[in-house]
Order: sequence, then C-alpha cells, then structure tokens
Amino acid sequence: MLEKIEDLRQTLQNEALDTLEKVEEFRLKYLSRKGIISQLFEQFKDIDAKEKAIIGKALNELKKEAQQRWEQQKAQLTSVFSIQAPRDLTLPGGAYRRGGRHPISIVQWKILKTFQRMGFVIVTGPEIEDDWHNFTGLNFEPDHPARDMQDTFFISEDKLLRTHATSVQVRILETHQPPIRAVAPGRVYRNEAITARSHCFFNQVDGFYVDKDVSFSDLKTTLFYLVHQLFGKNVEIRLRASYFPFTEISAELDISCLICGGKGCRVCKDTGYVEILGCGMIDPNVLENCHISAQKYSGFAFGMGVERIAMLLFQIPDLRLYTQNDIRFLQQFSAVQL
Ligand code: DAH
Repeated sequence: MLEKIEDLRQTLQNEALDTLEKVEEFRLKYLSRKGIISQLFEQFKDIDAKEKAIIGKALNELKKEAQQRWEQQKAQLTSVFSIQAPRDLTLPGGAYRRGGRHPISIVQWKILKTFQRMGFVIVTGPEIEDDWHNFTGLNFEPDHPARDMQDTFFISEDKLLRTHATSVQVRILETHQPPIRAVAPGRVYRNEAITARSHCFFNQVDGFYVDKDVSFSDLKTTLFYLVHQLFGKNVEIRLRASYFPFTEISAELDISCLICGGKGCRVCKDTGYVEILGCGMIDPNVLENCHISAQKYSGFAFGMGVERIAMLLFQIPDLRLYTQNDIRFLQQFSAVQL
C-alpha cells in the first residue's frame, strides 16, 4: 500500500493543471467523495494494525498534498494576474471600449464655447475661499443667512468652501482693469442634504462683462444668445425681477419647460417655466470694492448651475446620477458630439 501511495503522489504532482477544467477534473479524480484518495481511506480500514500508523501518516500527507496542489492551481488560474496569452500571438488584439464625456463636461463645454465666441475668456479660482472673495467683496451684509454654518461649509473662521463661482469675479476684478469679459466654471459647495433635487456640491458657470456703458440690454442679448445656442430657437425666455447682494438690478432667467413644452408638469411645478440662471447689473459697491471706478464703468454678471441645465437638455431626473459613476448612465452620453 505504501508503494501505491508513493506512486500516486508522483502522478498527481505530474498532472498538468493548466486550465480550470483540468483543475476540476483533478478534484473529482482525487479529492471527491468517490475519488481515489477516499477509496484508499476505505481500504485503510482493513489494514494490519501494525502498519496502520505508517500508512495512515502517508495517506494523510497524500491527501494534504493533493488538496494543496488543487487550491494553488485554482487560485492561480482565477487570479486577475493570470492573464493567459492567446495561443496565436499574431492575432489582432481585442478592441478597447471607447470612453465618453461626462454630461456635466459636455454641457459646461457648450456653455464656455458659446461665451468664447463672444470674446469672453475662461478664468478659474480656488474652491477653498476666504470670506472676502465669497461674501464681503460681493456686498453681502454681515448677517446674511448664507454666512450661516447651516448653509456654508466653513473650514475656519475665514476659510470656507466657496458657495458660488461668483467669488472668481472679485478675484479677477481686483487684479484687472476694464474692459473685462470672463466666464468662470467650477465646483461649488453648500451644506445641503443629498437628494434627487439638491446636492452638497455642484458646478456653476459664472460670468461678467465690465466696460464703459455696459447696459442691461447687453446682458439680455448675451443671455438670449446663450439660451438659443443651448436649447434652440423655439424656447421661450422670461426675465423675472429678483435680488442678489452683488447685482442691482437683479433678475432670474426662466425658459419654457422642455419636459412638458410649457403646459405644466412636475419639473416646472405646473408653471410652464424653469429657472436656469441668475443675473443682473454688477452692484457699484462690488466694482468699488475691487478698485474699479463705478463712475466710469458698469458691468453685467450672471451665474448658472450646470447640473440643472444638463438635466433639462438630457432629461435627467435625479442629481445623484451625476456622481454615482454608474456605467449604464454614463454610457448614454458617449455618442454626444461636441
Ligand atoms: N451666485 C448666484 C448663485 O449662486 C448666481 C448668480 C446670480 C451669479 C447673479 C451672478 C449673478 O454672477 O450676477 O445662485
């Protein structure tokens, strides 16, 4: 019996286990309940008592070795590192799947391109801001609710995550003299719950134009051009009076709801219109805060949420889809032409 065990040991070490099928065959042949090793254990019962110790030990070792070999080969073949070379190395390689742009990038790019065509330059600023650039320079009152911890992520007393891209206006106006035409894209942060309709971070494009004799009609023409570029000529536009600390006069721009065509639905809350941006004439206090003469110059400004515009353009129902990285969602935009 000892000889038989030794022979078997040799054979099972020499078995070629280079595919998962062969590994499974190996298991069935040696290690299963009806396999060779189990059969030997059956025979072991009838062995002479004197030999039992030696043969028992040899049998146990055999079983252990077989088990180890099986586990090792199986692990190696199922590991991600065991990529098997194709047999024919002259075969063409497998095709790589093409990636696509994220819907936010697509829409942001469209917005920026439209402004570039009108002579605006693209500028950026930091996401970690100070009170001056995010609030005070923009004419926010000291007790404005946006300064509350409830609305803003504060890092220290003077450092915070910017709540809007309008902070870049202050940075650019402080360091440049008119004429200035710029758009500032970027991520902004607000202390809000993550739901289908709100998120603690999102993207804005803020923009502004400061020069001699800039008027509200310039603002209107610029924004109407943007809306037509984004949504086509058939969309209806409405400007509604509003309030922002950094603009005077201020307005919000609505477009006719693209989901229901203006008839009224859940998205437009039955009003037939959805708001897409805030805008206005830059408050003279903001210009003066940035050492630009409000006597000599005037300007307009606007700011929009990219997620919201993408939702309308692509009929995306939930803000959370943008950040969940679900390939089934992202793949739907891979064919969008810029
Ligand atoms: N900062 C505003 C917001 O976050 C949007 C905005 C409104 C920006 C009017 C502007 C503006 O530049 O003039 O909601």
